[in-house]
Amino acid sequence: MKKRILSGMRPTGKLHLGHLAGALDNWVRLQDEYECFFMVADWHALMSEYADPKNLKDSIFDNVVDWLACGLDPEKSTIFIQSHVKEHLELDFILSVITPLGWLERCPTYKEQLREITNRDLSTYGFLGYPVLQAADILLYKANAVPVGEDQLPHLELTREIARKFNHLYKKNIFPEPEALLTKVRRLNGLDGRKMSKSYNNFIALSEGPEAVRKKVQTMFTDPQKIKLSDDGHPEQCNLFNYYNLFFPDKAKEVKQLCSKAERGCTACKKELAEILIGFLAPIQDKRSRYLKNKDDIFDILDAGAKKASSMAAKSIAEVKTLIGLI
Ligand code: TRP
Repeated sequence: MKKRILSGMRPTGKLHLGHLAGALDNWVRLQDEYECFFMVADWHALMSEYADPKNLKDSIFDNVVDWLACGLDPEKSTIFIQSHVKEHLELDFILSVITPLGWLERCPTYKEQLREITNRDLSTYGFLGYPVLQAADILLYKANAVPVGEDQLPHLELTREIARKFNHLYKKNIFPEPEALLTKVRRLNGLDGRKMSKSYNNFIALSEGPEAVRKKVQTMFTDPQKIKLSDDGHPEQCNLFNYYNLFFPDKAKEVKQLCSKAERGCTACKKELAEILIGFLAPIQDKRSRYLKNKDDIFDILDAGAKKASSMAAKSIAEVKTLIGLI
């Protein structure tokens, strides 16, 4: 029997190379080894986008198309939208009644987001419960592991604590405590060297056309100590070089040598990188446009995913309600 994993992404905009390097690539690889559930976390997105939710619907669809284009395979994995499976909110509520406020108030991601995100009001009842809903997502399918980046570890720890408390309170081990699957997440920095992110507007989207890629790559920060062509470069400190390592490892060694000896300037490096990325994105974009010609196929995939997820979720909820004594 394969172990089960569940993971999710919030649909808050276009997917970019950071999502691919940090998560999607891993998801695609895990498909053969695990029984996989991949979910668009639209309720989680609503928690931060509630004041201006008009783009949610488009983002949800657009992200699923990118998932498929990058190689998620609906024959192997269950792909679905969180809000289509009503049991997520049902378990969320049940878990919320046993979760102490202090656990949520102390959660480092919560404190950080309240501090850092100033362009919207996150001091809501719903947002405090973000990790409870995430625990419900995971426990509903009794997932054994959750592929996530390091930033999500506090949420996974809370999930385990909530599972433990539930099992203890109702004297039955119905929820396994899920592990984090920290498959080596390759951090990809954005054009300006900070973490690639929509909110920094420093990203290259998976759907970016060739001209846009060329323009964006031209603006990339490189080694700050290499100002003139004749300055020796320091590839280890160059954000651009990191992209060579990730997307064109065969060429990276040569680039490193030439750059260190001032035999190659940043402009040449950028020109070449842009073409490499365009070539890398082309098959993804081809697949994307093929899917977009048959939108009904995508809705079918999501319907089938929701059905499969729902049947498992309904069993868990029945088990939970029986245990609590509600049915
Ligand atoms: N909080 C996750 C993120 O922002 C998204 C998410 C929601 C998730 N539910 C999940 C991830 C369940 C893993 C498992 O990336």
